Amino acid sequence: MEAKIPCLDLYQQNQSVKAEMFSLFEKVYDASAFSGGPFVEQFEKDFSAFCGTKFAVGVNNGTTALHLAMLALGIGAGDEVIIPANTFIATAWGVTHAGATPVFVDCHPDTWEIDASKIEAAITPKTKAVIGVHLYGQPFDIYAVQAICKKHKLFLVEDAAQAQGAMYDGKRIGGFGEMACFSFYPGKNLGACGEAGGITTNHEGYYKKLLSLRNHGSTVRYYHDEIGFNMRMGGLEGASLQIKLKYLAGWNERRRAIAARYQREMKNPAVKLQAQPANTASIYHLFVVTTEYRDGMIKFLNEKDIFPGLHYPVPCHLQKAYADLGYTLGQFPQAEYLAAHCLSLPMFAEMTDAEVGRVIEAVNAYKS
Ligand SMILES: Cc1ncc(COP(=O)(O)O)c(C=O)c1O
Repeated sequence: MEAKIPCLDLYQQNQSVKAEMFSLFEKVYDASAFSGGPFVEQFEKDFSAFCGTKFAVGVNNGTTALHLAMLALGIGAGDEVIIPANTFIATAWGVTHAGATPVFVDCHPDTWEIDASKIEAAITPKTKAVIGVHLYGQPFDIYAVQAICKKHKLFLVEDAAQAQGAMYDGKRIGGFGEMACFSFYPGKNLGACGEAGGITTNHEGYYKKLLSLRNHGSTVRYYHDEIGFNMRMGGLEGASLQIKLKYLAGWNERRRAIAARYQREMKNPAVKLQAQPANTASIYHLFVVTTEYRDGMIKFLNEKDIFPGLHYPVPCHLQKAYADLGYTLGQFPQAEYLAAHCLSLPMFAEMTDAEVGRVIEAVNAYKS
């Protein structure tokens, strides 16, 4: 029996940095720097340098990052924000938690990213912003969305939760809109030892607002100038991210090499791959394919000890949580097709060449 190949395995990566990690954790412990503090500040400096932005603000998770970005833009009750229907639900939470309404649009049939040609029809006098999602680690068509935002005077926010280090037109994402929101959930390409998130921006005004909002609406202790939140990043999380950030570019390169092999060697006509526009460099947070024969393929792969994932089986507009918005089946055919036919093949930097070969062989061997 061959070893199981999961969709994602964190064990090996965590082991590879364990000694370094524990030695920095000891410093956090000895300094009692558990909430915000110097280890978070160092990570913020490192991460803004990595993204090529002026500022980064660490928070307690990626959902918070989106929520605070909306508040920093002044978005609230009565406002609408356009987002893709095919994303992890947290993109929509960010809008809803701010009191505004998410307005969904369909995705492109080949790239599966937000379809810029569908955005203008969704704009109303209430629209304040578009959140584009770099889904699966691949940048959306930023210039096309930017042009629409400029024309209609809308804010652009990047949901970069899945895309730490991805490139668009030769530049790392994170500085293309007003703000970019990251998740450092443990399973992300850059994942903390704990829950964490962050926001990058080139605008000092947003930066200052975010610092205040995440910290009880306060910049001077016990003086509260606005209603705020406790949404700080923890010191242990900040320290763990400092360490992992040093390895991220290498880990992303390895994922790119695995993806290149998948793209080159997967020949099964029953499997469709995500289109890769020439001006994007994905970090392959997920390697999603579609197939008309999903159930059969999952069963076949499972029999060969390969365990793909599903990201995501229900598009946002059809989630029960948003039933009151009145969307119906058939409204966003591309997002609905993707949800019904997607499959995430194993993808993590520590996969061996032999494991990559086993996945390719199994996918190619499947007969519908
Ligand atoms: C696209 C997207 N947006 C937002 C989030 C939310 O991040 P978090 O889980 O850190 O709250 C995620 C995380 O899974 C995500 O994939």
